[in-house]
Amino acid sequence: MPVIAIIGAQWGDEGKGKVVDLLAEKAGMVVRFSGGDNAGHTVVNPYGDFKLHLIPSGIFYPRVVCIISNGMVINPPVLIDEIDQLNQRGVDTSGLFISDRVHLVMPYHVLLDGLEEKSRGGKALGTTGKGIGPAYADKAARVGIRAGDLLDKEAFLERLRSILDYKNVILTKVYGVSPLSLETIYGQYCQYGEHLAPYIRETTIMVEEALTREELVLLEGAQGTLLDPDFGTYPYTTSSSPLAGGGCLGTGLSPTKIDRILGVFKAYCTRVGSGPMPTELKDETGDLIREQGHEYGTTTGRPRRCGWFDAVAARLSTRINGFTGVAITRLDVLDALPHLKICVGYKLNDQTIDYFPSSVATLSRCQPICEELPGWQAPISHIRDYKQLPVEAQRYVARLEELISCPVNLISVGAAREQTIHKMPIL
Ligand code: GDP
Ligand code: IMO
Ligand code: MG
Repeated sequence: MPVIAIIGAQWGDEGKGKVVDLLAEKAGMVVRFSGGDNAGHTVVNPYGDFKLHLIPSGIFYPRVVCIISNGMVINPPVLIDEIDQLNQRGVDTSGLFISDRVHLVMPYHVLLDGLEEKSRGGKALGTTGKGIGPAYADKAARVGIRAGDLLDKEAFLERLRSILDYKNVILTKVYGVSPLSLETIYGQYCQYGEHLAPYIRETTIMVEEALTREELVLLEGAQGTLLDPDFGTYPYTTSSSPLAGGGCLGTGLSPTKIDRILGVFKAYCTRVGSGPMPTELKDETGDLIREQGHEYGTTTGRPRRCGWFDAVAARLSTRINGFTGVAITRLDVLDALPHLKICVGYKLNDQTIDYFPSSVATLSRCQPICEELPGWQAPISHIRDYKQLPVEAQRYVARLEELISCPVNLISVGAAREQTIHKMPIL
């Protein structure tokens, strides 16, 4: 059985959680490979309505092994709380495993995320404040602490001591705040380590074994392509790669092993946090989409910025991920709109461009060039068969398909698992 990567194709919150929960029915394993609890993946299924931040969205199937892999960063108390909450709601988490290589979000990361944002003033990135950037920065600077480190308490104490000495200099001398206590953090993290020890493994071997058993393996992306630190709207990005390529590095899987790459797109665009978004609607239509779609952040509750589908950005996303197919989500959110627009190019200094500029300064000067299509103005959430969609909705999907140059496999018309139109098989 193959490996399918499920990738956010825009600025995050495309509905990856829903798609993974749906596809995991036939899977043996789901691996989440990037980000931390900056992610919020909503799953609506017979168990209820869930917001997962760290645990893979395949957790609701008892026989599916779920892996928090090396590409992620985890805040241990957040993970422990998420496990407890699932257990309290009757969800079995015995299939959950954590890579011994996963980096830990430490209290100073969360503190520094807030202090760095504050110091940026009007140029704040609008991070989720979960310590994600500082944790990945420490990974790159080789001063991170990994889950496996918690299993050797003496070595952990020595490593934490030297790192915290340095962090406390930054906290006190640069930001003028109180230092953090070694004893307190050490005590807390030793407890977390004891709690999480049964889950910590060399997970690359588990992935290989699943492939040898010919099980379907899903790679669950977090964030979205336009938040990628290389190809997104840098510096208004996150700090780990949400791309399909990130799925290889973040899992320990060869690129030759990924068979299908499913890009998840909303039928329009949203963004939460700062940074340019060429199709943003700062008018009643934007407000209407936000209210119809309850577009408020799953992790922070912030209102999401809403706008028309951006096919220029979508083409970048398709190119750098190599999508073999796409899922279009939230088509139902557009039910009420009399007309829909799709951005097909940008106007920049009186010229038309068809590519997504790498510089945010340039991108913020781009004006969307849109084509207009009629809306369907009818409810579609109950529809399960593509041919039953109003003809205007079919035309809208067909136009997206044409612009993205990629077949549409799935269309989601509601948050629940079954509110899905299977247009074309993924495999
Ligand atoms: P993720 O981060 O990509 O997993 O997406 P989020 O969970 O942050 O945001 C997607 C939101 O859309 C969640 O509230 C989902 O329950 C919801 N959702 C997913 N698909 C659909 C859909 O087709 N229609 C509607 N109305 N909501 C959807
Ligand atoms: P999911 O997996 C949407 C955004 C933040 C901010 C920027 C940097 O649910 O799609 P960070 O805390 O990562 O340093 O913030 O990235 N961001 C997301 N936006 N969905 C997400 O995840 C996001 N994860 C980070 O809002 O603009
Ligand atoms: Mg989300």
